[in-house]
Amino acid sequence: MTSTKPTTPEKVYSVVPRVAKDAHIKGITQYKKEYQRSIEDPEGFWGEKAREALSWFHDFDVAHYGGFDNGDVAWFLGGKLNASVNCIDRHIVTRGDKTAILWESDEPGVHRRITYKDLLTETCKIANAMLTQGVRKGDTVAIYMPMIPELIMTMLACTRIGAIHSIVFAGFSADALRDRIIDAQSKWVFTADEGKRGGRTLPLKKTVDEAIHGVHVVKNVFVFKRTNNPKVPFHPKIDLDMTKIMPLMRPYCPAEWMDSEDYMFILYTSGSTGKPKGVAHTTGGYLTYAATTCKYTFDLQEDDVYACVADCGWITGHSYIVYGPLCNGATTVMFESTPMYPDCGRYWDLVQRYGITKFYTAPTAIRALMAHGKEFVKKYNRSTLKVLGTVGEPINPEAWKWYYEVVGEKKCMIVDTYWQTETGGHIGVGLPGAAPMKAGSCGLPFFGIDFAILDDQGKELEGVTEGRLCIKSPWPGLARTVYGDHHRYLSVYMAPHPGYYFTGDGARRDADGYYWITGRIDDVLSTSGHRIGTAEVESALVAHNVVTEAAVVGFPHRVKGEGICCYITLIHGVDGTNAVMKELTQQVRSIIGAFATPDIIVFVPSLPKTRSGKIMRRILRKIAHGEEDSIGDVSTLADPDVVPAIIANFKHVL
Ligand code: WT7
Repeated sequence: MTSTKPTTPEKVYSVVPRVAKDAHIKGITQYKKEYQRSIEDPEGFWGEKAREALSWFHDFDVAHYGGFDNGDVAWFLGGKLNASVNCIDRHIVTRGDKTAILWESDEPGVHRRITYKDLLTETCKIANAMLTQGVRKGDTVAIYMPMIPELIMTMLACTRIGAIHSIVFAGFSADALRDRIIDAQSKWVFTADEGKRGGRTLPLKKTVDEAIHGVHVVKNVFVFKRTNNPKVPFHPKIDLDMTKIMPLMRPYCPAEWMDSEDYMFILYTSGSTGKPKGVAHTTGGYLTYAATTCKYTFDLQEDDVYACVADCGWITGHSYIVYGPLCNGATTVMFESTPMYPDCGRYWDLVQRYGITKFYTAPTAIRALMAHGKEFVKKYNRSTLKVLGTVGEPINPEAWKWYYEVVGEKKCMIVDTYWQTETGGHIGVGLPGAAPMKAGSCGLPFFGIDFAILDDQGKELEGVTEGRLCIKSPWPGLARTVYGDHHRYLSVYMAPHPGYYFTGDGARRDADGYYWITGRIDDVLSTSGHRIGTAEVESALVAHNVVTEAAVVGFPHRVKGEGICCYITLIHGVDGTNAVMKELTQQVRSIIGAFATPDIIVFVPSLPKTRSGKIMRRILRKIAHGEEDSIGDVSTLADPDVVPAIIANFKHVL
């Protein structure tokens, strides 16, 4: 992504009084005071937040230890707690009959209300079923499930007994699921017969069967039922039918005392290399951070109906559908469907029917809906809305304005939340009761986040500037390692700029101290808010026997933010026909998943390489951006003549 430097100062939108009125943090002065304290005394600040946000079986002795250099970061040492207890049991006395999960199915209006008491019962039954099968503290459990309440219950059941969940988004292919099961050595997999999304049926159990075929590590597959399709295969030797097991289980299960630094879950995310990283989060730090950011970013209040319409398979779902809201005792909406089903009014229909007060989605969804006009929005009553969140990629000012003016009618605060799988929770966000808004900026640093902008040589830049976005000191939500590969953790995040955590993003800081994310600096794409490594798509492509080489770059895409453009050379004698193109598209879908489907495939005679054989992606990026006039110097290429040929083929495809 390229940054657009405004020539005039950005318009500033004031804090909306009806939101600020009862907010936890009222006004910029209070934010600044709290922020200052969080930076000057992180131990005092986070010690207080950890005790306020969570209940501990045993209090911690030391709030913080360790640093970035060797990645020995630890928070709340000596503290003992349990995530499931913090999400459920802690609320039973005061909020037992309050709705914890409000599930809206794929079909509009078909819903389930699960109270905190129900949640305890169901979670405990699943936990006991896991114990019966031998799952123990420290074991990893893979979860490949549709967006049904049993998914949240399974997450909480894992954390209840100290098992480390590893959720694989149900849009991933069998190959991708297999890699993740093997990497984490998960002996158990949770799934459902099928999933439902946008009126379509997803063959989840079938995909799991394919994924574990010949994978000896897997002992059992726990199967929930979503569609009850009798044709879904069932293998009695390894499959366990949860509809039969659940009624046999005791509805209470004591919770494991976890150390603050015990792993809570791992979640795979893309990086610059082909192999996804199992980002590992720990119990005390992650939970404190998820709960605290959720409370302040959305200004959670007791009577809120809070909806984050992401999928639990991504970090957004972990922190802001499940752990953040439930730690706060909120009512969290779980949405199985899509913004377009059965029509483009679905989100606003949800808002009206449930009286949603805080709503959280992604720029890609906003842009897609925007294209269908205001009528779908205006049809529904949205007067309950107060805070509208966005996440996943920079939001373009046009989409921001539509969200603010059309959806929010200028009566809601827009919170643009910048963060990553690795940060556990929001790190850049303007708090809704405190920070005036600027369209396209993720606002100010969250409490405890000490941003630094560095130049390419690693020198810290002051004041109004642009460069590589880093963080100067650890915060509780920071991932502690890459599961099974601490070396990689250090080399990706800590080594690029010694003494700093490197986000991989570029950013600009303006005169008010607001941050503007300019996009990834590494070879990672953000497409529809999903992170995909170009190397992953490339290795999926070259795995096909007609492909010699592949180079993948991003390009600006109207709805997805960034699209996936693949330049491919084919083996001698094979032509780049439509059939080959289709096959390669299918290849990527089956190796990674449908969300990584290439947008453009260009067959080229060869890739632009330096004499030492390095692919010059800069050139490919320029072409994909339609900026072939500013490609610049190509004299270092082994064969400069290839450039016009690539441009011609690219134009031909468009
Ligand atoms: C990358 C992290 C964190 C949840 C969703 C994605 C980009 C995320 C924003 C935002 C600009 C954003 C960054 C970041 N990103 N939110 N509000 N403004 N960019 O999580 O898959 O770990 O991806 O998403 O490039 O590094 P993720």
